[in-house]
Amino acid sequence: MYAALRPLLFTLPPAQAHRVAMLALAPVERSALLARTVRALLGAPSDRLAVDAMGLRFPSPVGIAGGFDKNGDRPRALAALGFGFVEVGTVTAEAQGPNPSPNLFRLPDDRALVNRLGFPNEGAERVAARLRAMGGSRGIGVPLAVSIGKSRSVPLAPIDAVIADYIQSFDAVRSVADFVIVNVSSPNTKGLRALQDPAAARELLGELARRAKDAHLPLLLKIAPDLDEPDVDAILGVVREVRLQGVVCANTSIRREGLRTSSAEVERIGAGGLSGPPLYPRALDLVRRARAALGPRATVIGVGGIERTAQVREMLEAGADLVQIYTGFIYEGPLLPTRIARELGGALEREGIHRVTALGAAGETALGAPGLSH
Ligand SMILES: Cc1cc2nc3c(=O)[nH]c(=O)nc-3n(C[C@H](O)[C@H](O)[C@H](O)COP(=O)(O)O)c2cc1C
Repeated sequence: MYAALRPLLFTLPPAQAHRVAMLALAPVERSALLARTVRALLGAPSDRLAVDAMGLRFPSPVGIAGGFDKNGDRPRALAALGFGFVEVGTVTAEAQGPNPSPNLFRLPDDRALVNRLGFPNEGAERVAARLRAMGGSRGIGVPLAVSIGKSRSVPLAPIDAVIADYIQSFDAVRSVADFVIVNVSSPNTKGLRALQDPAAARELLGELARRAKDAHLPLLLKIAPDLDEPDVDAILGVVREVRLQGVVCANTSIRREGLRTSSAEVERIGAGGLSGPPLYPRALDLVRRARAALGPRATVIGVGGIERTAQVREMLEAGADLVQIYTGFIYEGPLLPTRIARELGGALEREGIHRVTALGAAGETALGAPGLSH
């Protein structure tokens, strides 16, 4: 059915299509009965797909990625569609609007998007209050992550002001999130990615990690796919050093190589973060590196260009505990999480694999680290 609707939806500018999709999800969000009915019609994921990570139980390893539900407006509807966890945000301490439009573009030939939205959100306090009012993850039905970022108005120096800004967001969401993801990797907030430099990252993440430990809250870092190899090693070193629970690999890319879309069109679209299938190989590679660097107990979430069950499986085999999808959801439609859950559950059953987490062991062996399990 989405195949029939998509051409219609794609006649709208992307930002407007997003609003239409959010409107379509509104009734499911508001009515617990409707959410249960949708859930029942789509079918609950097989028990084989359950993942235990960070002390939480995920009914499926496939979550909705950061940025789709920036204000926590639709988490129950997204859970009803079969996502095994929901990430809300990125939120910032200060409420802020989007960058000037147009700020979101489709590249249909690549099944990709470019966005330069820049963390539009109602502010961490307000979003946290909304999530609290729905009962947090208990009300939503699946684990709830909140992504925190830097307010646009806060300059990068001095770092103390940046840290204070992140702490304000962290403190706002700590009582309602099941885990928090620190976003220092969006290309759309000027200079943000400089916070991935080891010295700055150590200060910022060290402080946030101390607070997260006091709050018994898992804290993850989301990294950019554009870091070169030494920088990846350095940031993973900081993650280990300050004892974060894990990483999310990866955010959108400022690179544009290897696209089918004409270079004139790419030029016309201009700056922003590229998402979708062109990201997949790099995201997979980062998942492998993160697992190897952080060891079996860390949580690794793979995101970037996933739109098929085989890719979810490959990510899990490469060492991801969980995966997330954004752009694939736009191109494939609302049934995607259920389709993947059904196909993956079916494959596990046929192969006599009792838990999806067993797939990770294959990845570790392939990495040459037999005997490790997570
Ligand atoms: C329109 C749009 C907005 C996004 N906003 C955020 C955001 O606020 N925070 C974040 O961490 N990632 C954000 N992302 C990045 C996604 O979470 C994800 O890392 C990236 O799109 C790669 O996954 P995909 O190929 O499945 O889309 C956004 C992506 C898109 C397309």
